[in-house]
Amino acid sequence: MLLEVKDIRVHYGKIEALKGISVEVNEGEIVTLIGANGAGKTTTLKTISGLRGLSSGSITFDGKDISKMPGHKRVIAGLGQAPEGRGVFPGMTVHDNLLMGAYTRSGDFTADLAEVYELFPRLAERRTQMGGTMSGGEQQMLAIGRALMAKPKVLLLDEPSMGLAPLLVQQIFEIIEEINRRGTTVLLVEQNAQQALKLAHRAYVLETGKVVKSAPADELLNDPAVQAAYLGGGAEHDLEAEAAQAVPPSAPASPAPAPQERRDVTEERS
Ligand SMILES: Nc1ncnc2c1ncn2[C@@H]1O[C@H](COP(=O)(O)OP(=O)(O)OP(=O)(O)O)[C@@H](O)[C@H]1O
Ligand SMILES: [Mg+2]
Repeated sequence: MLLEVKDIRVHYGKIEALKGISVEVNEGEIVTLIGANGAGKTTTLKTISGLRGLSSGSITFDGKDISKMPGHKRVIAGLGQAPEGRGVFPGMTVHDNLLMGAYTRSGDFTADLAEVYELFPRLAERRTQMGGTMSGGEQQMLAIGRALMAKPKVLLLDEPSMGLAPLLVQQIFEIIEEINRRGTTVLLVEQNAQQALKLAHRAYVLETGKVVKSAPADELLNDPAVQAAYLGGGAEHDLEAEAAQAVPPSAPASPAPAPQERRDVTEERS
């Protein structure tokens, strides 16, 4: 396993935002976290990248406990991140923004730059433009491109499709798939659950700081409770209550999906 988040609890002051979250990411996978606003997706990513400290639990990356490792060392260790709000350097050109992404490395970046420009032709066209004058969607691409320049083993992406026009959303998802195909493991947070589940191998559903479900992504796409809550269809379900009721598995399920549809879904116990 490349990345193991084990039972982490994270607080903002007295508020417990993560109430014991466990997430595993294997090498080569795309794993996605889905869930409503405030569920704890961004906090989970920030804790993995070292921007938030954890109160308990642990994070293991590439065989090492990194729970207390400072963020910049995690980048060197191979955790790449395209920060929330994009974080592009406004007064630097696209090209220099990309080079900044490689600050943890030494040597010749020509091939890496060429690869990023190939993935994002828009950045290639605009390589001398200032980062701050790029459109929102272009800055999003720049942030991802810059993260790739660090040659991460795992790329953490927080809502890469946010604020993008439909055509660009499609493009970003295709690029993420291509990045993964070329060997980078991806942990993806998305509001756009439908698209994320189509792309990902596995997924975790977060509700109010807990994992309420984890399963192969295609199973969740077909899970009536997930469809109802996150894919805009069906009757209303309270996943947390259903997860609680599903222990033991033989307990009668509430108004909900037929047993054979739920069979292979791992219900997290909270
Ligand atoms: N800096 C902060 N100070 C206090 N509370 C915070 C802070 N950041 C997040 N929270 C709270 O922690 C909880 C989890 O927030 P988080 O940003 O992780 O959710 P999210 O799943 O990413 O939501 P969204 O889909 O809206 O981005 C929320 O209740 C939020 O209000
Ligand atoms: Mg968020």
